[in-house]
Amino acid sequence: MVRTTTDDDLQAAHAPSAGAGPGATPAAVRGTDDPWTLVFEGFDPADEGRREALCTLGNGYQAVRGAAPESRADGVHYPGTYAGGFFNRLPDRVGGLAVETESMVNLPNWLLLELGPAEIVEQRVTLDLRRGLLTRVVRLADAGGRRTTVRQRRLVHMGQRHLAALQTVVMPENWSGRLEVRSGIDGAVSNAGVARYRDMASRHLRVRGLAEPDPETVLLTATTTQSELLVAVAARTRVDRGRAERELERSRGLVAHRMAVEVRAGEPVTVEKTVALVTSRDVAVSHPATAAVDELASAPDFESLLASHELAWGRLWRRFRVDLRGPATVETLRTLRLGLFHVLQTASPHDLDLDAGVPARGLHGEAYRGHVFWDEIFVLPLLTLRMPQLARALLHYRVRRLDAARRAAREVGHRGAMYPWQSGSDGREESQWMHLNPLSGRWIPDVSRLQRHVGLAVAFDVWQYYQATGDLDFLAGHGAEVILETARFFADLTAHDAALDRYRIRGVIGPDEYSTRYPGATTPGVDDNAYTNVMAVWLWHRAEDTLAALPTTRRTELLERLDLGAAERMHWDVLRRRLYVPFRADGVLEQFHGASALPELDLEDYRRRYGDLQRMDRILEAEGRSVDDYQVSKQADALMLFYLLSADELRELLGGLGYALPPDAIRRTISHHLAHTVHGSTLSALVHAWVLARAHREDSLEHFERALRSDLADVQGGTTAEGVHLGAMAGSVDLLQRCFGGLETRADVLWVNPHWPARYGELGFTIEYRGLTLDLRVSGREVRIAAADGPGTPVRVGCDGEVRPLGPGDAVRFAAG
Ligand code: BGC
Repeated sequence: MVRTTTDDDLQAAHAPSAGAGPGATPAAVRGTDDPWTLVFEGFDPADEGRREALCTLGNGYQAVRGAAPESRADGVHYPGTYAGGFFNRLPDRVGGLAVETESMVNLPNWLLLELGPAEIVEQRVTLDLRRGLLTRVVRLADAGGRRTTVRQRRLVHMGQRHLAALQTVVMPENWSGRLEVRSGIDGAVSNAGVARYRDMASRHLRVRGLAEPDPETVLLTATTTQSELLVAVAARTRVDRGRAERELERSRGLVAHRMAVEVRAGEPVTVEKTVALVTSRDVAVSHPATAAVDELASAPDFESLLASHELAWGRLWRRFRVDLRGPATVETLRTLRLGLFHVLQTASPHDLDLDAGVPARGLHGEAYRGHVFWDEIFVLPLLTLRMPQLARALLHYRVRRLDAARRAAREVGHRGAMYPWQSGSDGREESQWMHLNPLSGRWIPDVSRLQRHVGLAVAFDVWQYYQATGDLDFLAGHGAEVILETARFFADLTAHDAALDRYRIRGVIGPDEYSTRYPGATTPGVDDNAYTNVMAVWLWHRAEDTLAALPTTRRTELLERLDLGAAERMHWDVLRRRLYVPFRADGVLEQFHGASALPELDLEDYRRRYGDLQRMDRILEAEGRSVDDYQVSKQADALMLFYLLSADELRELLGGLGYALPPDAIRRTISHHLAHTVHGSTLSALVHAWVLARAHREDSLEHFERALRSDLADVQGGTTAEGVHLGAMAGSVDLLQRCFGGLETRADVLWVNPHWPARYGELGFTIEYRGLTLDLRVSGREVRIAAADGPGTPVRVGCDGEVRPLGPGDAVRFAAG
């Protein structure tokens, strides 16, 4: 159960008071009006995974799930610890096939802190989003009738990437005697967080050293089995009550201090565990073990760490401010902030020199093995407008893997660069070959790697970043090459069809993973996925725009180096005019060539029988059928075009190809696809909310609420436990600003043309645009923009066709007609 409380409630519940001690019976949770705090009451084993994922603390560099410190991976709890970009590969056999799988490695568990045997009789966990602080208050009772209240607070330091801390205040309520504490680091961990993968190889770490660098500190070093990355974790444990007896324990991959201390009823004892985690991926480090010990040596006590941690979060929240003012907006606001919080815990200023992409499921769990998909297309718009340098750093993850993408293209006989559907350490394709259907227990061939459209998303992200920031250095330095090489790959994918007298892209998969082949076909892939084809045309246009934007010397250099001559560019021009896009006779944009010829499924009947149809692929496979054979979509596919492009842009692209897209065809296209989509991806609700925003306000808001609550409500019934859905989290905030708020960066003007839903009151947020910090407020059709004082040159802002200059310290107000 999630309830809310205010900071004051917490203070009252947790503040030490004479005689009662810090963890004395927690006050009843009052109030539901704090949009910064999430409270979980009690303990529900079936819900523990979701709670742990939602209570994950991280700083972009490392993260730890919100597991209880005394817990081990046991099917209910899963104390996963991860570092961005820290991968390892393991050979395996799945479904009778020899495979090799790369995973984000579950690192040694530094949370480990045990307090002697006792039962939990009460528990309350509070996540403070503003401070990045997780507080757990438990009441324990043991067989001898001894009652103890424990309050634990933890942080993963947002300012100092290597540091984390866990403070435990123990209050013996009705007993005095010996308190035993075991505090250590457990390196005997594996990747066991996802039930579906549990039969697969999972031991990524070999513990290399268990040491005690000083009497308060234990140190564990481990290496990965294949990538030979090194991780060092040092943990210092201090007890505030005189000198605790201490004993070092070193066994089977675990190093710990066993401590004993005399306690008295009503007198709190504080145990502080401070942790430093360093890996061999870090720069400016000699050996991770020395670095971890050095980090700890200068780490202050918990309260001081908390103070500097809060300041770091404060700075981040200033940049990422989102406010809703109005009645009944608290829950929406809290959920938006929860999403932002987890996005920032995955991608933070620490990513500036980390070389990690945006893992689809955050650093929060092991779903998709920490891989990077196209989901950054939903995340980057949020970051670009608030911390452009972070968006740029994340794009560099792709830039650095351009050569791998070139190799991948060559391997399948094409020129240019083919980005992988799933990307990990070095940018090669990491998609699995087989996946398990838990409904039937069968391993099914996985052909999702044919989602070539991922490269279009990468190029789109590069171009959008350039549009929003005007960062020509990035475009000229690296971005242009990504755009041109991707454009080249898609051109090379086309083949001329004499009968149609058009070019076609055959044998691919669009965003909808429920359409992977034609019925009965022996080879996977469908032809002319509308999304892929139209975005390829978009890309060939942007490739020319990119070249036009480059300084002459750079353009000449690049054309020469890429051997990109006039003939090839002329061919792109032919493709811009002659690529085939599938339309039905009634003007509806088809998902792919022949999609509408597939039989319909009686989805209502299935809904009656199964309730939830999100995993229609599994349902049908378990029935001995294939989802490929029917008109059913997992997620928005053709409609993604309306998400990424304005109706005008889309019309222009299609017009250039000789196709018309009248408004009634748009309407029919939207309702056709909506009727066939089961929203098996959290991204789907997001896209539909966007697409329906102008014409179907209520439906749009319903989709928005669903996308927003994807993880909080675990709408997929169990997937949140395996990691949050960053695309839906970031995308929901982005939807408010760019779709409902109508924010758009186009042709050197910041446009705000709102279609703002009155029920969300007033939207306030801060962005950074071309060097100015802008405060925006949107309510109804009114827009106010104020620029912070300071250096900077005026920018142009517009609403409803009217453009005005805005310099530092200026404010403008528009009332859209
Ligand atoms: C969706 C993809 C998405 C991936 C990672 C899948 O379920 O179909 O579009 O990229 O999840 O979030």
